[in-house]
Amino acid sequence: MSDLKNKVALVTGSSRGIGAEIAREFARHGAKVVVHGRDTAAMAKVLADIERMGGQAIQVAADITSLAEIERMRGEVEQWLGPIDILVANAGGSPARPAPLEQITEDDWRASIDGNLTATFLTIKSVLPGMKERGSGVVITMSSAAARRAHPGSPMGYAAAKAGVELLTKELAAQAGPYGIRANCIAPEIILTEVNQGSIPPATQEALVEAHPLRRLGTSEDVARAALFLACDDSAWITGVVVDVAGGAVLV
Ligand SMILES: NC(=O)c1ccc[n+]([C@@H]2O[C@H](COP(=O)([O-])OP(=O)(O)OC[C@H]3O[C@@H](n4cnc5c(N)ncnc54)[C@H](OP(=O)(O)O)[C@@H]3O)[C@@H](O)[C@H]2O)c1
Repeated sequence: MSDLKNKVALVTGSSRGIGAEIAREFARHGAKVVVHGRDTAAMAKVLADIERMGGQAIQVAADITSLAEIERMRGEVEQWLGPIDILVANAGGSPARPAPLEQITEDDWRASIDGNLTATFLTIKSVLPGMKERGSGVVITMSSAAARRAHPGSPMGYAAAKAGVELLTKELAAQAGPYGIRANCIAPEIILTEVNQGSIPPATQEALVEAHPLRRLGTSEDVARAALFLACDDSAWITGVVVDVAGGAVLV
């Protein structure tokens, strides 16, 4: 069960946070993992974690808003580990703080779309032809609870970009299914990553718990377990869905 033995998995944005935990979880289940990000020291720490547990991984840096850099990364991965079986297009985040629409700058809007929707599109664009040729593959994308329902305090550009990621994933599932490729999306509510632990004051964390029927905040491990299920054959008949990893905070 949950076997990823010898599968090559590229987890973008795995130098920290949710992506790092997905990389460790996949390695624990036998995958050869590509740890990716821009911060080489942070990537090296995740790589060391994986090697300590007896797993196999490499680290590759690339800015995923550039197709040329993604293509270079894919070349390196194919050279060192072989073709990519599993893509987790996780890298992203909100570059801008929530603000009323008229106060959002053009630069912040474009950065939100580039760093989430366009980056996800470019990463899939690079990896998909090989998967089609081989007649198999798994793609997992990362949305957010911000895209699941409107909220006056939401970072609007980021939420819109993530809603785009969800539809992109469904379109991909429809187009690539006949080639043996599955595509699914995960939409987490606030996750207590290292960054969020440090930046969300304890009182706010307590208040946020109340918005979750399961009465706690989510962890990177919660998301990694969902990603593992979607990556392995346990979910062989599931494609084109958005999985809310949200403790019931989002009920759609
Ligand atoms: N944490 C949450 O509460 C939460 C909730 C909902 C959705 N999400 C989504 O889940 C994903 C992971 O979130 P997180 O909180 O774990 O993020 P994080 O801790 O801020 O880490 C972001 C990761 O993405 C990489 N990254 C971002 N932009 C990149 C770019 N242009 N090129 C290359 N790498 C890039 C970062 O690399 P470097 O740092 O090495 O540069 C890092 O590895 C994101 O898509 C986020 O939108 C998170």
